[in-house]
Amino acid sequence: MTDMPPGSRIVLRNTLREHESPFDLAKDARDGLTAVPRTLPSKYFYDARGSHLFEMITRLPEYYLTRAETEILQRESGRFVETSRPRVLVEFGSGAARKTRILLDAMRERGLLEGYGPVDVSVDASRRAAQALIRDYPDMVVEGVIGDFERPRNLPFSGRPRLIAFLGSTIGNLETVQAQAFLEAVRAEMTGADAFLIGFDLVKEATVLERAYNDAAGVTARFNLNVLRVLNRELGASFDLEAFRHRAEWNAGRSRVEMHLESLREQRILIPAIGLDVTVREGETIRTELSHKYTRESAEMLLGSSGLALESWCTDEARRFALALARAPR
Ligand code: AVJ
Repeated sequence: MTDMPPGSRIVLRNTLREHESPFDLAKDARDGLTAVPRTLPSKYFYDARGSHLFEMITRLPEYYLTRAETEILQRESGRFVETSRPRVLVEFGSGAARKTRILLDAMRERGLLEGYGPVDVSVDASRRAAQALIRDYPDMVVEGVIGDFERPRNLPFSGRPRLIAFLGSTIGNLETVQAQAFLEAVRAEMTGADAFLIGFDLVKEATVLERAYNDAAGVTARFNLNVLRVLNRELGASFDLEAFRHRAEWNAGRSRVEMHLESLREQRILIPAIGLDVTVREGETIRTELSHKYTRESAEMLLGSSGLALESWCTDEARRFALALARAPR
């Protein structure tokens, strides 16, 4: 699909092959809810309501990640841009917001900015981000790729020096093997002129981590429970949101925060549309999200195992979060 009204500076290219939508809620719900332990993929959090709740999370006092990453970008984006001299910014997940603009500004100030390439599964999100940005960056074109960012291919602006950004600690949502496969696939698309900027949330005190995912105002609880609303609406499920409780726990052995929905009583889950009929016990949980936390060593190991070399590592003042700049060695 190409979206290019005359005179527009926005092109969106669909790279999803037929039957390859990363969203197959019926299958994912059936597989996940019958698995041991029961799980639901975190990508289903982000309907309109869930995206709004996530926006609220980024402003919570306990959720330090967004502020810490923004602090690093404000301090270091000039240096990132000067060391790699990119002409375009390619970004996984179309961030119309603050963090994208910090990088674009740093490129523009140095006369480098030619283009922005969001890679996102959502045409709407990409188009919205593109339209908001071209207004403020009149000399820039947008070449968006609609695709599953877990299977990156045909990244935008091949042939030009790119700064490729994967911000927000989204990499933390992936199991280590998936993270490695993702990084390897990006690595395969990179030339020696490209640089890859990745946000890692760092291992820290359990109480700080657990508070970030279990805020006092209960926004994260609503965000977590929202996935059940999505199933009710999309699959005609009849989850009683009062019968589940939000839980977030630091799993030190696996270096990750795990979010769960705990069943408050024994209950039957019936979703006729997908042939699902299971009984969950009181206290049993559905795991809804993993959020891996890294150290410099574990991040460097992950990058190395994916064929990437760590070029620089910057943390915020309080050392809660890091941005890694990596290259594909030739
Ligand atoms: C947007 C995936 C990075 O894992 O910290 C926030 C999502 N979940 N609070 C994260 C999230 C609960 C967030 N990511």
